[in-house]
Amino acid sequence: MGKYVIAGNWKMNKTPAEATALINEIKPLVADAACDVVVGVPFVDLPAALAAVEGTKIGVAAQNCHWEKSGAYTGEISAEMLAAMGVGYVILGHSERRTYFGDTDETVQKRMRAALDAGLTVILCVGEYLTQREQGVTNEVVAMQTKIALGGVSAEEMARVIIAYEPVWAIGTGLTATNEQANEVCAMIRTTIAGLYDQAVADAVTVQYGGSMNAGNAAALLAQSDVDGGLIGGASLKAADFAVIVGAAK
Ligand code: 13P
Repeated sequence: MGKYVIAGNWKMNKTPAEATALINEIKPLVADAACDVVVGVPFVDLPAALAAVEGTKIGVAAQNCHWEKSGAYTGEISAEMLAAMGVGYVILGHSERRTYFGDTDETVQKRMRAALDAGLTVILCVGEYLTQREQGVTNEVVAMQTKIALGGVSAEEMARVIIAYEPVWAIGTGLTATNEQANEVCAMIRTTIAGLYDQAVADAVTVQYGGSMNAGNAAALLAQSDVDGGLIGGASLKAADFAVIVGAAK
């Protein structure tokens, strides 16, 4: 459906020197990738990552941004700052930010607006908690997260939005959604996009799966009709594993 994008979310891992080393290891392994490849690194690693990917097609993502351009927000980083240094992508609404750092659908929407205004491409994370899946409200939760985050986003801007379906219970747990579960929710997200915009926008949007995707299960997940890529946590910290996942995205 959408263009395949494999993105690593390194979370709070790697010093700048380690980031350079890991990207240098990844580079030759993904040189002839058939998909877009992105590394999502900690803020302090961004200069090292940007330098390391120079001359390649690998994109660099930050893992969050604030919604204001500048101001009295101690400890925060604006979308403008990221764009000014040459960063192309930002991950927004990750469940770890929603769970531990108070991000809500409303703040995700504000971050989305700022990121798109700054020219960034957004990887928007959505996904249900285990209790929500057990209560049968996965579709409702994920559709609501998607709709609120995309409030005010135009059809043209959707060309710079990637959606990552990440069931919270599958993140870092070794538990993966089944191929069918992943495809079902990714397809539902696409239907939601069709409802907000039109079928052309829905067909063009990249919908990734994330949650314990690894070298062993990636090919089957990526073969699903509505799964257009992956957002990879743990396995993105191992060059060989990440490369296998990139190779599976055709
Ligand atoms: P894991 O691949 O470690 O489960 O993490 C997934 C994730 O949260 C990517 O954003």
